This record gives sequence, structure tokens and C-alpha cells, in this order.
Amino acid sequence: MNQATVLTGITTTGTPHLGNYVGAIRPAIVASHALQTQSCYFLADYHALIKCQDPKQVRQSSLEIAATWLALGLDTERAIFYRQSDIPEITELAWLLTCVTAKGLMNRAHAYKAAVAENETHGDADKGITMGLFSYPILMAADILLFKATQVPVGKDQIQHIEMARDIALRFNYLYGEYFVIPEAVVDEKAATLLGLDGRKMSKSYQNTIPLFEPETKLKKLINKIKTNSLLPGEAKDSENCNLLSIYRAFANQDEMNYIQQRYLEGIGWGEMKQILFDKINQEIKPARERYQQLLTQPELIETQLQQGAIKARAIATPFLQQLRQAVGIAPIGN
Ligand code: TRP
Repeated sequence: MNQATVLTGITTTGTPHLGNYVGAIRPAIVASHALQTQSCYFLADYHALIKCQDPKQVRQSSLEIAATWLALGLDTERAIFYRQSDIPEITELAWLLTCVTAKGLMNRAHAYKAAVAENETHGDADKGITMGLFSYPILMAADILLFKATQVPVGKDQIQHIEMARDIALRFNYLYGEYFVIPEAVVDEKAATLLGLDGRKMSKSYQNTIPLFEPETKLKKLINKIKTNSLLPGEAKDSENCNLLSIYRAFANQDEMNYIQQRYLEGIGWGEMKQILFDKINQEIKPARERYQQLLTQPELIETQLQQGAIKARAIATPFLQQLRQAVGIAPIGN
């Protein structure tokens, strides 16, 4: 058995928030320290173009996301950390895969179907749907298959895309030989889901997030804005369904949780709980926040890291793509 390869991409739209940190970034950085695994983490900037046509935002988000991962201590000696658009083999492979992917398979993609369903309420089913959106799962399959990823940590909404990558890989292997490793989605059922300012799941699309590296004073203000009920200090509170605790739980150990649950029963005041929550988050984030601010002033350091990552990634991608070209019959005449 070859060593496991864990691979995941982060679409470069937006600024990382606490939910991204707890659900994806923190566990990925922990996993990158495991011996016996190769981890590949990349900035999915070509995927960003599908949803965002504001060049400034794509660039800014790439900078912030790269700085976030580095500030949080991603070990770039062990993990391969790169930018999708630095690896031309990915888009080249996407075309090879496009040519073996059934249109019917893409018709079934949730994101595409949702866009069509939304349109059908007012006439033109294709309105605003680009070929980028339609083919999105093929580009994602190329990301995964090029590096022979065995495990792909993703959120639930992405499981279907991994299944599509498997289907596409099997089809290619059936036609041309056993080139691709069949990847598996890894969905962490236990991964905490943080609730946002309004009590819904913390998500960029709800605009209810707490950005990970807000300056202290802003972090404090945002935490104060988290919605609570109007129970007064001294009145017992429900520790099962509480926005504040959904976040606290992701940062606290068992003893701290036990203590806080007791305090809920005794009727801790919301003001005090918000202060405790702020202190807890701030304590964990503070050193990384300082490194992050520092890195933002030295973008050339980040760029150097990405370039080194691209060299490592291409050392894998270039020879493999060469084999794949041969396999499909793209080769110099006479060989
Ligand atoms: N589509 C993923 C998302 O929006 C990001 C992504 C792009 C990805 N390529 C990938 C995730 C490859 C895992 C593997 O979350």
C-alpha cells in the first residue's frame, strides 16, 4: 500500500472566518504533521473565478488565505502548499477528463441543478450559468486525480463532487488503463459547526461570520453582537442550544466545558459569558494573528513559499501528465 495522500483545496473568495478555522484549517494543519501521510493543500483560484469576477477580490483573498495558513503554522517542509493556477498540468488534465465525462453526469451536480431550478422560476433556465459552473466538478476532479489523492477532507456539500471524481477516474481507467487512484471523501461528522452572529450556521453566504483575524477590539465587538435570548443574570440557561457555546465548545477542553455548563445552570449573565468567550478565542488566536499581520506586510515571503510549493507539486504533476498524454495518444509523431 502506498502512503496516504490527503488533499484539499480552498476557494479563494472571501476572508477566512472562525467556522473555516475550526471546521477545516485547524484539523488540516494537525493532519499535516502526521507521519505516513503526504498532505497537499492548495489555493483554488481557478475555482474562485467561477463565483467571483472581481479581480481585486480574488487577489486579496488569495493573499489572506495563504497568510492564514502560514500564520497558523502549516509545516510547508512536510505539506505541499501551492496555488492551483501555478500548476498548468491541472487545467490540461481537466481537458483530458472533460473528454471522458458524460454531460449527463454534470447535469446532476447539485450546484448546477440549484442554479437551474432557481432560474426556472422566471423563464430562462440557463440564465447566468457559465460553462465554468457547469464543468466545476471536472476541474475539481483534475485537482484530486493529478496528485493521486487517497483522502479528500471536505464539507458535506462537496461529497457529490468527490463521487463524480471517482466516476470520472473509473471511466478514464476503463478506457486507457489503471492510471488514477480512486479517491475517498473524508467528512468529519464530529467537526464542530459553529453558529454565526444570527444563530444560523456560520457561513459567508449568510453574512454572519466572525473573521478569524479581526483585531482584538473588533473581535470583542462582534462577539458582543452574537444573538442571545433575553434571560437575565441569575436565570438558568440552556447550554444545549446556545450560539455562544457552539463556539466556546470548539476552543475549550472538557473541564472548562463542565465548569461553564454548571455556570449556565446557575444563570451566568450573557455579558460575562461573552467576555469568557472572547478571552478563550483570543488566547488561542493571538500569536497567529500577530504572525498574520506581519506576513501581510511581507507578501513576497508568501509568494516564495507558494513558488516552492509549486516546484514540489510540479515534480509530481509533470511526469504524471506526460504519462497521461501518452495514454490518450497525444505524443510526438513517430514514437
Ligand atoms: N470546491 C471546493 C469548495 O468550494 C474547493 C476545492 C477545489 C476542492 N478543488 C478541490 C476541495 C479539490 C477538495 C479537493 O469547498
